[in-house]
Amino acid sequence: MPIIYTIPEIRKYVKAWKEEGLSIGFVPTMGFLHEGHKSLIERAVKENDRVIVSDFVNPTQFGPKEDLKTYPRDLDRDSQLCEQAGASLLFCPSPEEMYSEDYTTYVNMEQLSEELCGKSRPNHFRGVCTVVTKLFHIVTPHCAYFGKKDAQQLAIIQRMVRDLNFDIKIVGCPIIREEDGLAKSSRNTYLNPHERKAALVLSQALNLGKQHLLQGETSSNVLIDAMTRQIEQEPLAKIDYINIVDASSMQLIETVNRPVLCAMAVYIGKTRLIDNFFWPE
Ligand code: PAJ
Repeated sequence: MPIIYTIPEIRKYVKAWKEEGLSIGFVPTMGFLHEGHKSLIERAVKENDRVIVSDFVNPTQFGPKEDLKTYPRDLDRDSQLCEQAGASLLFCPSPEEMYSEDYTTYVNMEQLSEELCGKSRPNHFRGVCTVVTKLFHIVTPHCAYFGKKDAQQLAIIQRMVRDLNFDIKIVGCPIIREEDGLAKSSRNTYLNPHERKAALVLSQALNLGKQHLLQGETSSNVLIDAMTRQIEQEPLAKIDYINIVDASSMQLIETVNRPVLCAMAVYIGKTRLIDNFFWPE
């Protein structure tokens, strides 16, 4: 499986495949791939003739105090995983290939990027929308695959594609978890063994929220309080946010009387982890 580093080269592959009438699936990632990414690639392989995976740690979506410099990288392992999963090529541009020194254009979304992660990570979704737009223009896929692990990101990309008329089908894929329930994430590698255990509290709290919903609870405040109490029992955990939002507008709601997203970000030690569920599932 070829690894491609430049935009002109990837465009050559795409052009040739399109001339043959082949369909192209695309899985954008920041690398350090795990089973969650693999599930997206495998789904794309099933549904398309050719699959491009991108591996790019996008500087514009990291805040000044965030983990851009330490974000884990392992291109050899990533390319093996892509090949095993059936990808056709891995696109791995340098930051200079993607952003010229005098880069000035950004894609900014209102409303949907204001709550949840948008509150604690200002400009994060501006960076995501910008890089995904660029990647969409470079790869010009028919379909692109995103995980529900980053549910707000998925909602934002779906809205962006609609608002800006990208001719690309966005496919949302289920969250892949460790056996004990922790959502797989490249950032889990930051956790020491104590923190790894403590990190279980996210999925446990979400399960508690689901139980309350199943029992008929519809007050966001009551649900959030129950999940908050559960997280607060874990000494290594510090809540960034726990919220319930409308599943498509990402705006806070008081009563669960329509499809919602229940989402949280919690620090385990210094590592910020996110998890969520859509309701109804
Ligand atoms: P990254 O965090 O590498 O994730 C790439 C894709 O894998 C995203 O769509 C994410 O939701 C999905 N993913 C991650 N963990 C998952 C899991 N446990 N189960 C299912 N899917 C999972 O998200 C990004 O990169 C970047 O923001 C990107 C879209 C590439 C733009 O830079």
